[in-house]
Amino acid sequence: MAGITNADFLNKVIPYGFDVATLGGYSLDAPTIEASQKIIQRGRKEFDFPLDEIFIHIENEVASIKNIHKDVKVSANVRATTPQPIIEVGNIKNLDIVEINCHCRQDEILNIGCGQEMLKRDNLGNFISQVVDNTESEVSVKIRANVDGIDTFKVASLIEQAGANYLHIDAMKKGVFEADWELLESICNMVNIKVIGNNSVNSKENLEKMIATGVDGFSIARSVISGKLDFNIANF
Ligand SMILES: Cc1cc2nc3c(=O)[nH]c(=O)nc-3n(C[C@H](O)[C@H](O)[C@H](O)COP(=O)(O)O)c2cc1C
Repeated sequence: MAGITNADFLNKVIPYGFDVATLGGYSLDAPTIEASQKIIQRGRKEFDFPLDEIFIHIENEVASIKNIHKDVKVSANVRATTPQPIIEVGNIKNLDIVEINCHCRQDEILNIGCGQEMLKRDNLGNFISQVVDNTESEVSVKIRANVDGIDTFKVASLIEQAGANYLHIDAMKKGVFEADWELLESICNMVNIKVIGNNSVNSKENLEKMIATGVDGFSIARSVISGKLDFNIANF
């Protein structure tokens, strides 16, 4: 979660049973950094690091987690207009996963063709495969489901073909306060890469529904900051 999930925060919540911790989202090039600054100006939290500090900052954050939680995989969720800065993050020492953010829906990010707007790019497959082919770390692609005008199944298949290791999917469904469980199940049946389900894991009931879809893993965001994470996920 932008502006929130830094190493200090993650070190506190990992003991709930998480085996992957995601830093970020971070903006990695001039257009995305400028967009982040505009978002901050209107009062929303964002990480704000200049170009000459962001890569070393991420490296230090990874080290801060690994020093305490050696067996936890560390992921960095990142935004950039081109693959190159994402490749640079994917080669950071001890980072396990670089996650391409095709999910953010803040206007300032969409206006420069990033976040969920990436799903509309003709070259999305090529963008992802460039990252996959040039990084040491594993590659995750985080998408939002049910975006207007986007076929989530086609996107999932494209991400698989591009060679990503993980499809991280926020299974948001408009007008519903739970994840789109049916869609998640269908995606899990369709692709052969690891699917990480996301959205509305805020109770044991929903966690059980999430697991029943067949996902290889799941992620939790808002419940971690709202204090609603009143169960130890390692028990599931
Ligand atoms: C304050 C806030 C900041 C977020 N920042 C990011 C981000 O930087 N990158 C990202 O991929 N998702 C971001 N998200 C989305 C969450 O990671 C997650 O996909 C979404 O909240 C749905 O999951 P949940 O129901 O477990 O909260 C953010 C969510 C919130 C509430």
